[in-house]
Amino acid sequence: MTTIGIYYGSSTGYTEEVAKLIQQECERLQLGSTTLLNVYDHDLRDMEAYDKLILGVPTWNIGEMQEDWDKRLAQFAKLDLQGKHVALFGLGDEIGYPDTYQDALGMLAQHVRARGAILVGYWTTTGYTFAASLAVEGDHFVGLALDDITAPHLTEARITQWVQQVAAEFGMTPPAPVSTVST
Ligand SMILES: Cc1cc2nc3c(=O)[nH]c(=O)nc-3n(C[C@H](O)[C@H](O)[C@H](O)COP(=O)(O)O)c2cc1C
Repeated sequence: MTTIGIYYGSSTGYTEEVAKLIQQECERLQLGSTTLLNVYDHDLRDMEAYDKLILGVPTWNIGEMQEDWDKRLAQFAKLDLQGKHVALFGLGDEIGYPDTYQDALGMLAQHVRARGAILVGYWTTTGYTFAASLAVEGDHFVGLALDDITAPHLTEARITQWVQQVAAEFGMTPPAPVSTVST
């Protein structure tokens, strides 16, 4: 069975809640076995053992990485993620911090690429209103950008669509639905 590690950092709980929703969506689609891990108290060396990775980071302090991720970056820099599929999601506030929206998502993407991983899960910038972001390449974010401060009503639908996209890019197809029609 394919194993998926969902690692996140979260200072005030928003990213943690989203990580749980993403895990629930993976389970609903029966995408292998998922494990939820907070980088605050989980060693990153175990990342290498998972078949696929989903990493979540909020941006803090005007364009900075969340503090638990920040403390783990030296350890992250020693990982071998060569050829591994990695999908990213970020939490931010596009109204409050329009010039540094999701910057930590962009920074994490650079760290992930430096380890040889293959980034999947790019997400369109259409429908967002920020001014500048390190997480944007062309007309896409380098992962799912969520704003539970000013646009929480969009989060669930974005997660549902993104997890389906990531499953396909991971090369995983959800099992066909079991027919409930009785004859
Ligand atoms: C002091 C402060 C600085 C912030 N800086 C940014 C920022 O530069 N860019 C951004 O997109 N969001 C920024 N945010 C918004 C957070 O990313 C947002 O509140 C997020 O949901 C926090 O996630 P967490 O609870 O998982 O830590 C900031 C929030 C605070 C309180």
